[in-house]
This record gives sequence, C-alpha cells and structure tokens, in this order.
Amino acid sequence: MTTADIGLIGLAVMGSNLALNIAEKGYTVAVHNRTAARIDDFMVMAKAQGLDGKVVPEADLAAFIATIKQPRSVIIMVKAGAPVDEMIEHLLPHLDAGDAILECGNSLYTDTQRRFDYLTPKGIGYLGIGVSGGEEGARHGPSIMVGGAEQQWKNAQPILEAISAKFNGEPCCAYLGVGGAGHFVKTIHNGIEYGDMQMIAEVYGVMRDGLGMNPTAASEVFKEWNKGPLNSYLIEIAGHVLAAVDPQTGKPLVDLIIDKAGQKGTGVWSAIAAQLLGVPATAIEGAVAARAISARKDERLAAEAVYGKRTGISGQLDLGDLEKALLAGKIVSYAQGFDVMARASAENGWNLPLATIAKIWRAGCIIRSRFLDQMSAAYVKGGATNLLMVPDFIGIMKDAHPSLRKIVAAGALGEFPLVCLSASLAYFDSYRQGRGTANLIQGLRDFFGAHGFEIEGRGADQHGKWPSTLGF
Ligand code: 6PG
Repeated sequence: MTTADIGLIGLAVMGSNLALNIAEKGYTVAVHNRTAARIDDFMVMAKAQGLDGKVVPEADLAAFIATIKQPRSVIIMVKAGAPVDEMIEHLLPHLDAGDAILECGNSLYTDTQRRFDYLTPKGIGYLGIGVSGGEEGARHGPSIMVGGAEQQWKNAQPILEAISAKFNGEPCCAYLGVGGAGHFVKTIHNGIEYGDMQMIAEVYGVMRDGLGMNPTAASEVFKEWNKGPLNSYLIEIAGHVLAAVDPQTGKPLVDLIIDKAGQKGTGVWSAIAAQLLGVPATAIEGAVAARAISARKDERLAAEAVYGKRTGISGQLDLGDLEKALLAGKIVSYAQGFDVMARASAENGWNLPLATIAKIWRAGCIIRSRFLDQMSAAYVKGGATNLLMVPDFIGIMKDAHPSLRKIVAAGALGEFPLVCLSASLAYFDSYRQGRGTANLIQGLRDFFGAHGFEIEGRGADQHGKWPSTLGF
C-alpha cells in the first residue's frame, strides 16, 4: 500500500524530530531505521505526541520504499561520510527513475556533488540539504538549505516548506542551486556560527577577566544586548548559559565547564573553502583556530607558567563599546562568509541567491538574528556583494569600528586573546586601505624568484636589477 507522502531513514535525534515535524504538518511519513528497535522507540514517542496515525513504521527496507508515493522522496539522516554512501547503495535497487534521495546531514559539499554526479545519470534525483536549528529546530521548524536536483526539489517543496521555520509567514527554506550548493551554504552558515560564538566568547572574556564581572552580571548584559542591534538566538542563549547554576554545587555552571571547545568539521571546511577560493575570511579562520587553541589546555597552562598571567585591562572599558565591537566584528564576519559564497557561486555555476540565503537564515537556524533581516533587505536592493560596501551597512560600520578598535587595542595591551575580533579588525583595515604594502612583497618575490611586478604605465611584467646575495 502506497500511503506515505515521504520516507525518512535514520531515527537518531535529528531524524526523529524531523519525522515528528512532518507528521505534525499533516503529511504521512514512512520511517525506517537499520536497528529496528529504534523504530519501536520512535513509535512510542510519536504516540505520546498523538502523531502515530501519520507515521508508517517499516523495518524492512523494500517494504518501506513500497509504502512511499511515487515519485518518491526519501530523506536520509545518517552520519555524514561513508554511512551516506552505504545507504545510497542500499537504496538504489529499490528506487525508480524520478525518485529522490534527500540527504539532510552535515555532509561535505564535495561529497554531495560527487553523489549528485553519480545518481543523476541513473535518473535518481539527489538533494543535499543543510538543516540548521538543532534538535528543537528539527522538531518545530529548522532553516532548510536545499541543493541538487531541481525537479525533485519541486516534488518535495511543499513538505520541506511546511516543516521549515517561518519569518513573517515566509518559509525559511529555499532551493539554492545544483549539486553541492545546499551543503556548501550550510557549511558557510556553520563557519559564520563559529565566528559569532567565538566573538561572543571573547567579549565574555573581557567582561570576566577585564571588568571583573561574574556570570550573572555578564548574563544581564547579554540579555540587554538581545533587545538591541545584536538581537539573535546566540546572544539570547549566551544570556541563559551564563545564568545557569549547577544544581550539585550551587555555583555558576559556566565556571565549572572546562574551557576546551569541540568541533565536528564544518567550521574547518568553511575556512578551507575560503582559502581554496582565495577569499580572505580572517574571522572564520580565527574562530576555527581559537577552538584548536582552546583544546590544548595542558600546553596553555604550561605556557602561562612560563610567561605569567595576563596583566589585565587597565582603565575603564565601556560596555557600549563592547557591544559595538561585537556588532562591527559580526559585520566583518558575515561580509567574509557571504563573499566566500559569492566566489563559490561563480566558480561552481551555482548562481547562489545571496538575498534569499540571508532571508532563510532569519529564523530557525543557529545564527538567526535581527541583523539577517537587515542584511536580506540590503541585498534585495542589489548592488555591492561585500557587506562592507552595502549602503545600509556602511553607516553601521562607520559608527561601530572605532569601538572595535578600542576593545582590540585594550585587549592587546591587557594580554587578552581576541583572536576573532582582532582578525575582523585587521580584515577591515586591510579592506579599506587604498595603499597597502604588497608592493614590497612583489619586490621580494621578484628578488628571489623573478616573479615580476607591475608598475603603473609600464605594464605587468617588470623586473628589478637586484644585487647578488650569493655571499650571504
Ligand atoms: C546547526 C548547527 C549544527 C552543528 C553544530 C555542531 O546549524 O544546527 O550548525 O548543524 O552540527 O553546531 O557543530 P560543531 O560541533 O562543529 O561546533
């Protein structure tokens, strides 16, 4: 009996929540999992939420496929990497031309492109879909970034739009381009997510060690900031995390959490993508590097013993400056992320719609914010692609960059590692300087390797008459 509107394989946390979301929106979803016991657990959960009537559980893969209406849309929500390839091979014998596999994990976009290229000639539509918003987002409305087979996107569009987050009634779900476009955009989303979190952590460090604020006081500041231009999910949850108390000790929870951050790979991928495309993305790279440094706790303790504890910020620091510094850093980081996407789009022929991307990030995803609403409105007007040159943001940046400067300068003198904020400032200052210093680099390159340089009015392939350094 073909009764299901869509199928879903992989009932771990994200998959279960997506399936419940689909059922809640009135669609019938067939569910399958390699370990059949998990299907039973899922049905108990679905029943408890009154949604079991919209779920068709199937432990047998062939029977599972047979219950899905044609052309079939089959969501796979398994661990990124080899398990996705294995699942594709399991599915292939059961699918018909025109069916689609919708892969919703955090996959590397080049893997997605490879799978798309593999399945397209077989008549199977492959969709690589970035889903952001964590567990709660998956259950109640994530941001959905779709890439891959356009025809099959159209088949699944009503369901994907129905389950996505909404911003002013508009679904936070869009088709962004062929092949790996959706997963690429999700990767850059995560790079930006890393930057946002790192800069939040850096200003928290200034509050804690520079201004002597306790977690409760810092939490109040983030709560206040959440009412202003920084209004966003991450600022909101920073307020909550800082306010949390450990029930065992009664101490602020954040003070007990070890200062080593984990990472699963998407941040690194976004930094690598930027480098490969030749796009400067110092904030994203800084955020990834900061996580790596954080993980080296023992080395950091040993180095602190050698160099001594930081001297500390002297003089009065203004919380208003701190807020503006975060805003300026954020503008730079988003400018970089969108620049990476613009370059990748041109290189891969994706035609990524930057305004739409900003729009579908306004709700549901981890980086959702008021700022993205401003950004999408600015990009809709067209014009410059680098956010720093978009008229609506020029005014904000002119107002905010002196504060970023003050905080980074105070941080440097006080021996605070503002890796991401200072990387943002350095990018801004490099980006806005008409006359840089790469002329000397060109001279050096020509000196040791005859790489040539350009002189105004004399052409590009000029060389110097350099002295010999054989005796050096
Ligand atoms: C999201 C998140 C999510 C990501 C986590 C963990 O958009 O919902 O980006 O997809 O997996 O944030 O990433 P790290 O473990 O690398 O921090």
